[in-house]
Amino acid sequence: MRRQFLLLALFAAAFAIAATPLVSAESDAVPEHHFEGIPDEKLAQIHKTAETFQFQTEVTKVLNILINSLYKSKEIFLRELISNGADALDKIRFISLTDKEALSSNDYLNITIRADKEAKTLTIRDSGIGMTKNDLIRNLGTIAKSGTSDFLHALENNTADMNLIGQFGVGFYSIYLVADTVSVVSKNNADKQHIWESTAENSFTVVEDPRGNTLGRGTEITLYLKDNAMEFLEDEKLKTLVHKYSQFINFPIYLWTTKIVTEQVPDSDATPIEPKEKTETSEDDLEVEDVIEEEAPKLKTIAKEVGDYEVMNENKPLWVRKRKEITEQEYKDFYTAFTKDKEAPAAWIHFKAEGEHEFRSLLYAPAKGGNLNSIDHVWNIKLYVRRVFITDELPGFLPRWLTFLKGLVDSDDFPLNVSRETLQNSDILKFIKGKIISKALEMFKTLSYDEEKYKPFLKEYGTHLKVGIIEDRSHAKKLMKLVRFASTAHNFTSLDSYVNRMKSKQAQIYVMTGESIDEMKISPFVEKVVARGYEVLLAEDPIDEYLFQNIFEYEGKPFQNVAKVGLKFGDESEDEAKQLKDAEEKYKPLTEFLQATLSEFVEKVVISNRLTKSPAAIVASSWGWTAHTEKLMTSQAFANKDDQMAKIYRAQKKNLEINDRHPVIEGLLKKIEAGNPDPDTIDVARTVYETALLRSGYPLPDMEKFSSRIDRIVRAFLGVDEAEEAKVEITPAKPKSDEEKKDEKEKTLATDEDSDVSDIFGEVPEDIVPPIEESSDEEAPAREQPHHDHDEL
Ligand SMILES: *[C@@H]1O[C@H](CO)[C@@H](O)[C@H](O)[C@H]1NC(C)=O
Ligand SMILES: *[C@@H]1O[C@H](CO)[C@@H](O)[C@H](O)[C@H]1NC(C)=O
Ligand SMILES: *[C@@H]1O[C@H](CO)[C@@H](O)[C@H](O)[C@H]1NC(C)=O
Ligand SMILES: *[C@@H]1O[C@H](CO)[C@@H](O)[C@H](O)[C@H]1NC(C)=O
Repeated sequence: MRRQFLLLALFAAAFAIAATPLVSAESDAVPEHHFEGIPDEKLAQIHKTAETFQFQTEVTKVLNILINSLYKSKEIFLRELISNGADALDKIRFISLTDKEALSSNDYLNITIRADKEAKTLTIRDSGIGMTKNDLIRNLGTIAKSGTSDFLHALENNTADMNLIGQFGVGFYSIYLVADTVSVVSKNNADKQHIWESTAENSFTVVEDPRGNTLGRGTEITLYLKDNAMEFLEDEKLKTLVHKYSQFINFPIYLWTTKIVTEQVPDSDATPIEPKEKTETSEDDLEVEDVIEEEAPKLKTIAKEVGDYEVMNENKPLWVRKRKEITEQEYKDFYTAFTKDKEAPAAWIHFKAEGEHEFRSLLYAPAKGGNLNSIDHVWNIKLYVRRVFITDELPGFLPRWLTFLKGLVDSDDFPLNVSRETLQNSDILKFIKGKIISKALEMFKTLSYDEEKYKPFLKEYGTHLKVGIIEDRSHAKKLMKLVRFASTAHNFTSLDSYVNRMKSKQAQIYVMTGESIDEMKISPFVEKVVARGYEVLLAEDPIDEYLFQNIFEYEGKPFQNVAKVGLKFGDESEDEAKQLKDAEEKYKPLTEFLQATLSEFVEKVVISNRLTKSPAAIVASSWGWTAHTEKLMTSQAFANKDDQMAKIYRAQKKNLEINDRHPVIEGLLKKIEAGNPDPDTIDVARTVYETALLRSGYPLPDMEKFSSRIDRIVRAFLGVDEAEEAKVEITPAKPKSDEEKKDEKEKTLATDEDSDVSDIFGEVPEDIVPPIEESSDEEAPAREQPHHDHDEL
C-alpha cells in the first residue's frame, strides 16, 4: 500500500514539474522527466499491470544497511553508476563488432548526467546495452557474484569498507546512500522498454513503459534524493565529482550544466545614454575624434538561465599516451578507476611491445595479492583491440603464479570482430603472454632495488614467486633471483648475495626449513654450521619445504638441508677425518647399544659432524621427510589420512646422530662400558633419544611412556619409592536437590524476558548505537555505587 502511494506521489511530483514553466534554454531533446506525458488513465493502468517482486534477502539486507548508513563518502554512488554505464557501453560496442545492426537502435555511445533541482532528482543515462525485463529483475533484485555474501556480512558487522562495494558486484545499490526511491528505465534491443522501480522496501515493481521506446537503447536511472543528499544537485559539486570519476572512462560523459547569463535587450522605458564628453585631446586620439559617436539604443539587462551538456572527460585512453607525459598520480588514479581497488598498486609497468606483433600494455601488481587459486583472476587482464574493449575472459592466459597481475593489453593486430574462441589459440595471444611475463619479471626486478618497497611486496607475493619456480621451469631462473630468505647472518638475502658471501671451499648452500626463524636459530642443526662461520638460509614459508624439494642447486652449488644426511663443509681437514674415525671406534659400544635399544625407531646411530651444544639430533635421509615436512604434511593431509605415500614417509626411520664431545654422551658411554646396562641407564638412553626428537622438531612416538620415564628419573633423583601413589581424598559430586531445580527454572524464565528486551535493541541499526568502548566507560563508575548494585537484585 505504502509503495503504491509513493508511486502515485512520484507521478504527481513529475506532473508538477512538467507544469512549471522552464526558463532553461533546451539544446537537447532529452526528455525532461520520463513520466512526463503519461495521462491519468494510463497511470491507473500502470498500477494495475506493474508486477511486484521480492528482493533476494541479501539485497534487502544491503538496502537496510545503506539506507541507514552514516557513511561519509556518499558520493561513491556516482562512481558506481558511471562505471556500470561504461560497462554497459562496452558490452554493446563489443556486440556491434559482429552485429552491425546492434547500434542502429541508438547511434550514440555516451553517458549523460542531469540534475533537476526542483524535482530533487538526479538522472544518469547511458546508451549502453540496456536491460530486458528479465535482466532488470535479475540484475537489480538479486546478488549473484561469489564472495559477495562475505562482504555483506562484514557490512552488517560494520567492518567492511563501503568503498569496495563496486568490487563485489553490488555497486548499483550504493544509490541508496543518497536516495530512497529510484526508478530505472531500460531498453535492450531484445525487449520492450521497461520501468523498474523501488522505494527500498522489500520489493520492487517492473512494468512495461506506457510511453513506448523513448531511449532507443540504454538505461536511465533517476534518483529521488534524500534530504541530506541535496548537495548532489549543485552544479559545482557534480562537476567536480563527475570529472573525478569519468577521467578514465573511454566514452564521452556529459553533465548538464546551467549558468545565468545577462543579456541586454531593447527597453523602451530607459532614458537615452548621454555621449561622453571629451576632456583632453592627444595626438593618438585624433583618429577617434573623427569617428562620430552614434547615440546608443535604449537597453535593459536581464538575467537568463541557459544550460547545455558539457563533456567532462578527456577521451584518450591513458595507455595510448606517452609514458613521459603521464604522472605517477595518473597511473594510480587510472588503476583505481580500472580495477576498483582502493589501495594503491605496489608497482606498474607501461610498455609498447614491438617485433612480430605490436601491442601496448599497462600492468599493475596490486598491493594485496589474494588467493593463488581464486577463479576471480580470470578477469584480471582486459584485452582491447584498437582501444575497443574485447574481453576479460582469458582463463589460463597467465601462469598461475602470475594471475595476480592486473591490467590491460591493447593490440592492433587482431581483427576487431575476433571471437573468444579464435583468441584462445591464437599465436598473437601466445606472443603477448610471453612478453607480459618477461615485462612483469622486469617490473619485479626494478622493484627489488628498493628494499623498502620490495619487502611488503614479497610478503604478499613471495609464495607466488616460489610457486612459479616450482611450476614454471622456463622462468625459474629469473624467479630464483627474485626470492629472498632470512638467514643466520641476514634478515633478507637473495641467493646471489648468499653465494657471494660463501666461504672458501664451501661446498653447499645450507638451508633449514622450519616454522619460525627464532626456533631455527637455536636448532641443533645449525649450531655447528654457524659455529664454523657458515651462513644458513632459514626458510619459514610453508612453500619453502616444497621449493627445496624441487630445486637442487643454484649457480652450480647444491642446496643442503641441514636437518638431512649429507652435510659437508668442504674444508674438513685430514685431522678432522682422523678424529671422526677415532671417535667412531671409541664410541662403538655406545652406538651398538643404542642401535639395539632403539632399533624400532632408528635406522643408524652415527657420530655427528653438525653438533656442538646438543648431545644428539635426529637426521632425515636425503630424500626423507624432515620434522618440518612431517608437520606440514600432517596439517595438510588431514583430508586423506590414509594417503599411502604419507604413511610410508612417516614410518621412515631416521638417523640418530650423537655428539661425541658432549658430557652426557661421554657419561652414557662410561655406563655402557661398565657392564650390562641397568634399567635406569636404558631409561636415560631412551630419554636422550626422545629429547633429541623434540629438539629436532619431531613428535614423540609415545607420550605416555616418555612421561613415565621422566617420572621414574625424577623419583630416582628425589629418592622417592617408585610404587608410592599420591594421597588424595575424593568427595563424590551430589545430584541437584528439588529446591535447586525449582530456583533454576524461575531464573531461566526471568532471563528469557531480558533477552526479549535485548532483541529489540538488536534491531537498532549499528550506525546509531554508540560504540562499545563508550558504554563500558560509563558502566565502570556505576559499579562503584552500592545502590546501583542493589537495583540489579
Ligand atoms: C548522448 O546520447 C543520446 C542518446 O542516448 C543522444 O540523444 C545525445 O544527443 C547524446 N549526447 C551528446 C551530448 O552527444
Ligand atoms: C558478522 O556477524 C555474524 C553474526 O552476527 C557472523 O556470523 C559473521 O561471521 C560475521 N562476519 C564477519 C565478517 O565478521
Ligand atoms: C570479420 O571481419 C572481416 C572483415 O573485416 C571479415 O572478412 C570476416 O568474415 C569477419 N569475421 C567474422 C567472424 O565476422
Ligand atoms: C633483523 O631483524 C631483527 C628483528 O626481526 C632486528 O632486531 C634486527 O636488527 C634485524 N637485523 C638486520 C641486520 O636487519
